[in-house]
Amino acid sequence: MRILAIETSCDETAAAVVEDGVKIISNVVASSTEIHKKYGGVVPEIAAREQLRCIIPVINEALQPFLKNNQHFNFKTIQQNIDAVAVTVGPGLIGSLLIGVESAKTIAFVTGKPIIPVNHVLAHMYANFLQPSKENSPRVKSRDNLIKIQFPAISLVVSGGHTELYLMESMKKLKWLGGTLDDAAGEAFDKTARLMGFENRGGVAIQEAAKKCQMSNDKCQIKLPRPKIHDDDLNFSFSGLKTATLREWKKYEVHSEQLISTFAHEVQESIIDVLVAKTVKAARQYIAHSILVSGGVAANLRLRSRLSLEMNKVDLTASLHIPAISLCTDNAVYIAAYAYFRGIQVDWHDIEAVPDLSVEV
Ligand code: KG4
Ligand code: ZN
Repeated sequence: MRILAIETSCDETAAAVVEDGVKIISNVVASSTEIHKKYGGVVPEIAAREQLRCIIPVINEALQPFLKNNQHFNFKTIQQNIDAVAVTVGPGLIGSLLIGVESAKTIAFVTGKPIIPVNHVLAHMYANFLQPSKENSPRVKSRDNLIKIQFPAISLVVSGGHTELYLMESMKKLKWLGGTLDDAAGEAFDKTARLMGFENRGGVAIQEAAKKCQMSNDKCQIKLPRPKIHDDDLNFSFSGLKTATLREWKKYEVHSEQLISTFAHEVQESIIDVLVAKTVKAARQYIAHSILVSGGVAANLRLRSRLSLEMNKVDLTASLHIPAISLCTDNAVYIAAYAYFRGIQVDWHDIEAVPDLSVEV
């Protein structure tokens, strides 16, 4: 079954074609992140306008494997090559979501193909089921993910807007175990990065600055809290981290490159310590056979290596699965994977954008 998926929940316009939920035929992402840089965060109106500008060219590019000589797609291209259309309906920015949802509805209406609504946050975790290709070959996980992932699995979704833990009892059966009470992990990276003078989408900036830190953990002069790390529940709270960072930051008049890298290191360690501790706690509690990590923050190299180190250390027999870096941040490939494994077809009349779509299942 070939699914054409469309994702427009924030500042990425993405379309992809995926076969049987695992084989990537095409994967196209256009991002307006650069445009938002000067505003210090995503501006919803600008994001929506960029979605409008990009949606048709992006869908057209995703359908190129079925066309000759750079021809443009038409409804026959979809009728002859695609079995269903999947689209992100939420959570996300309403202006952005509407562009993808209305485009997908139009395609479904014109071609008569079934349409599948997708929850963006739940979909992230299905990036772990995609077949690795040369371009997205994984760093941590084993080669054939579909065979190696075993249930029950613990799934951590860490993105710009969400930090959620799920118990995955099968490909379809999910149970929400906990999530952030305030800021998401990605938001904590972005907010502290801005405070340190980095531009938006600061996760990568912090990761790179932290690499330059010469300080070992115990000698590090900056000490930040590890919120909720010892609590019994599986919830997170990252909003205090920004305040704590600001308080420490103000103690210094001059912020040398070395000091900034020390701050970046400590912020990264603080977030990662909590993510790792809660994920391991959940894995022990539910005797997980696999641990799945996904979302933009799963692209963080330190998080990836800390988690794999943890697998060797602790009394866990779970296998660790993290998608290739390019499949962690927003794209439409995992939207198609989710639609294939867990999606439900609906009539196109019944699809609408839901910005605050619940992620608790
Ligand atoms: O999943 P995603 O692309 O979009 C949302 O659904 O939110 O996640 C974006 C988030 C941003 O907060 C960004 O700073 C963070 O993922 N991120 C990273 C890294 N790459 C992206 N955070 C830490 N380290 C990274 N390498
Ligand atoms: Zn996302």
